Parts: sequence; C-alpha cells; structure tokens
Amino acid sequence: AYTAAPFVPEGADLGALREAAAGCRGCPLHRDATRTVFGAGDPGARVMLVGEQPGDQEDRQGKPFVGPAGKVLDRALDEAGIDPDETYVTNAVKHFKFTHVPERGKRRIHKPPSLREISACGPWLEAEVELIEPEVIVALGATAGKALLGSSFRVTKERGTRLESDASGPAHGGLVVPTIHPSAVLRADDREAVYGGLVADLRVAAEVLG
Ligand code: URA
Repeated sequence: AYTAAPFVPEGADLGALREAAAGCRGCPLHRDATRTVFGAGDPGARVMLVGEQPGDQEDRQGKPFVGPAGKVLDRALDEAGIDPDETYVTNAVKHFKFTHVPERGKRRIHKPPSLREISACGPWLEAEVELIEPEVIVALGATAGKALLGSSFRVTKERGTRLESDASGPAHGGLVVPTIHPSAVLRADDREAVYGGLVADLRVAAEVLG
C-alpha cells in the first residue's frame, strides 16, 4: 500500500517535519506536483483546519489556502469569531492532484484524491496533530472528513456537529467539527446561503473554545 510512514521522522519538530515532507514519495502524487505543500500557521493554535489538497495557487506558492478558497475561509473564520492568524491550516493530502483537459490548454484541473492517497498521506496529518495538539479540528469538506472520521463520512449528514474522530485515525479520537469545503461557496448559485452555512458550522467550532 502507498504510505508516507517511512518518510516521517520520529521526534521531529514542525520545521524538521516540513523539510522531510518536501522529499515524500509515499504515493505517486509527488511526480506531477510542483512541490509538497505542508501545513502553516500558528504552532500554538487551538483550532486546526484541514482542507483537501493544495490547489493550483498553493502548488505554485507552497502554502495552503493562499488562493480563492483561502480568501473565503479567512473571511468566514473572522465572521465566526476565530482569528485566522491564530489557526494552523493544512490539507489531508499534501500534493496537488490534477489533470489537463485538451480544450483548456495549459490549465490544470483539480482532481479529488483517492482513498488510497488520503490514507497514504495520513502519517503527515497525524504528526501535525500530535505537535499542534489542537482543541478542535475543522474538517473542510468530504476528503478531510474521510481522512479524520473514516471513509463512511458524509458531509451533508454530519456537518456542523461535534464528533469524536477515529481512534485509529490521524487525530486519535480528538474532537472534529466537519463543514463544507470553502470552494463550494465559490461554485454555488446561492453563494450567500452557502457561505452562511459555512460560518454557522465554524461557530460550532468557535463554541468549543469558549
Ligand atoms: N483547497 C484545499 O483544500 N486546500 C488548499 O490548500 C487550497 C484549496
């Protein structure tokens, strides 16, 4: 099976983890992506946010959520009473997976990671959770939900609730609040309503902090 496990150094701090992740070959996604996009943010964060995988902009810049979805996320966090500067942000999968559509020329079109790729990347997420020790983890969308809560996770059913993560998964039973992926706001016809739902779910995570 694909796994990042042999690439994850034991007893490493965040800096050493990030360096090691740059050389990860635990699954085939490293071949086409520009670089590993490791987590970033406040190492003392009480809230950790987990997205799906880097997008086109993130793959170019090497930081999570620097593109359009990140703008939506920061605004929604702020509105929910969570300071974006006091969070740690990462992705379930740390390489950009994409395809080319002939009609669209050089444009790289995002492809969802497979369950095998999600679980292969789990050891990085696990190491991040162990070092950050967040009080609550927000799963942004179906991929992050599957990574933290198991493959039967369904975002429409479970969003906006406090859940105990999989004991055997990357968060070792820690508290997870799932919500939609912020890019769903950008794709929606009724953007305001979908955005409002994201903010409401983030408030559930904010309430955990008291
Ligand atoms: N979407 C994600 O899931 N993660 C990012 O880092 C950017 C967009």
